[in-house]
Amino acid sequence: MKNLAYATFIIIFVHINILVSPYLIHAEQGFDSVIQLPHSGFSRTRPRSKRVLSVGDYGAKGDGLHNDTEAFLEVWKIACSLSGFINVLFPHGKTFLVHPIDIGGPCQSKITLRISGIIVAPEDPVVWHGLNQRKWLYFHGVNHLTLDGGGGINGMGQEWWARSCKINSTNPCHPAPTALTFHKCKNLRVRNLMLLNSQQMHMAFTGCIRVVASHLKVLAPASSPNTDGIHISATKSVEIRDSLIRTGDDCISIVRNSSRILIRNITCGPGHGISIGSLGKSKKWEKVQNVVVNGAYLFNTNNGVRIKTWQGGSGFASKITFQNILMENVSNPIIIDQYYCDSRHPCKNQSSAVKVENISFIDIQGTSATEEAIKLDCSDTSPCERLYLENIFLVPCYGGYATSYCWQAYGSARGFVYPPNCLSSSNGFIRQNEWLESNPAIHSV
Ligand SMILES: *[C@@H]1O[C@H](CO)[C@@H](O)[C@H](O)[C@H]1NC(C)=O
Ligand SMILES: *[C@@H]1O[C@H](CO)[C@@H](O)[C@H](O)[C@H]1NC(C)=O
Ligand SMILES: *[C@@H]1O[C@H](CO)[C@@H](O)[C@H](O)[C@H]1NC(C)=O
Ligand SMILES: *[C@@H]1O[C@H](CO)[C@@H](O)[C@H](O)[C@H]1NC(C)=O
Ligand SMILES: *[C@@H]1O[C@H](CO)[C@@H](O)[C@H](O)[C@H]1NC(C)=O
Ligand SMILES: *[C@@H]1O[C@H](CO)[C@@H](O)[C@H](O)[C@H]1NC(C)=O
Ligand SMILES: *[C@@H]1O[C@H](CO)[C@@H](O)[C@H](O)[C@H]1NC(C)=O
Repeated sequence: MKNLAYATFIIIFVHINILVSPYLIHAEQGFDSVIQLPHSGFSRTRPRSKRVLSVGDYGAKGDGLHNDTEAFLEVWKIACSLSGFINVLFPHGKTFLVHPIDIGGPCQSKITLRISGIIVAPEDPVVWHGLNQRKWLYFHGVNHLTLDGGGGINGMGQEWWARSCKINSTNPCHPAPTALTFHKCKNLRVRNLMLLNSQQMHMAFTGCIRVVASHLKVLAPASSPNTDGIHISATKSVEIRDSLIRTGDDCISIVRNSSRILIRNITCGPGHGISIGSLGKSKKWEKVQNVVVNGAYLFNTNNGVRIKTWQGGSGFASKITFQNILMENVSNPIIIDQYYCDSRHPCKNQSSAVKVENISFIDIQGTSATEEAIKLDCSDTSPCERLYLENIFLVPCYGGYATSYCWQAYGSARGFVYPPNCLSSSNGFIRQNEWLESNPAIHSV
């Protein structure tokens, strides 16, 4: 028996070499051939006359001690009232202490916040007394906004984490700020920035349209509570790429009514992986569709690629493709969980569920920290349909066999699938990601 396991182990490693190398080549090609870069819409932003404003000229000290909030508001007010392209500088080598701040549009101008220095939050949660505990830097209703500059945004979250009920269960549960929130913004770009130690989530897009987030480093300790990297909620047309996310919660989470989301070349871990949901909490109707994750490397994460829904909800999670993914030491590498429940009491099974259908997992390889590398746990009342597996090879980190679990999961498989495919067969074979190549919406992000 031992010998047999050992033999399997060797074979498995031979397979990794065969399978992983073409994956890498495939991934490289995939980046250019499948997706067109969205630079066309933005490269026209070459200014005819670009005005430059610096926060320093509006009273900011940038010494990390002085309250620079007023200066930020003042420079924003001016930039917003001008027309054309405006650059607002936060110079390199300076640290700007900014209190919770509300930055609103609409603006006449197209503003770039060039953050080359560092924006820091007040350390002490007491500053938020009487204010909305969920916000720190809150942008809303702005069109054509860009944040870049190579600098950092530091949420100084340590004090918030210590007070979290997830860290110490004697603490009461209360919300903590999302470092950067963009609400109802259109044509937004966030790039070339470091987001550090957020109080709770690092960056959230809520109700936005057309967003590109790229070349970001999002960093917080694995033990920090609820520090999701990038959260997408009720947002359409989003591209997230070329970024590194290492935090204490989901690298990327997609919820509510969001669609046309493209994620590529993401490195993720530690954290909780890439997650669609949770959807359908408190009997909500929600629809997440047209999501492509193409090119991700996940390591030491609690989940790999995940769809989670609550019992009792309704709506859809559909047309979702996870492709070209390399995993290392990932617990639950592939998981659909339609019985999601994180309340203190067990959740009752209900007669409705968010429908999960047209989901593809293609070219996913690597090692699992758990034996059960594939878990497709679908609803009794609303089974998963048209699931598709192709070229999957996931082995336990520490050797031995990997297993798969299916419950009410219908679909088909092609190519080599290990752990073995457990889907109940459904009629008709369709390679589910075909809609991607023919979907013009994704290309016009
Ligand atoms: C910092 O400035 C902002 C904006 O003027 C103000 O609302 C806030 O109370 C100030 N905080 C402190 C601690 O002075
Ligand atoms: C949890 O919080 C309580 C009350 O604030 C404190 O007495 C206790 O030492 C904390 N426990 C840990 C492990 O930090
Ligand atoms: C992938 O993203 C990393 C940053 O995380 C970047 O350095 C690298 O150039 C990107 N790769 C491609 C093929 O764009
Ligand atoms: C999603 O959209 C539908 C239809 O527009 C709406 O009824 C529902 O409340 C939305 N759900 C959420 C969570 O926003
Ligand atoms: C695997 O990941 C876990 C976290 O999920 C980590 O504690 C452990 O050290 C990792 N093992 C290896 C071999 O990296
Ligand atoms: C809900 O249904 C699933 C699948 O039939 C079952 O495994 C689970 O025990 C049920 N949970 C409850 C609380 O009844
Ligand atoms: C799933 O795909 C099938 C076949 O292409 C299509 O008929 C169906 O409408 C899709 N379902 C959803 C919810 O998009």
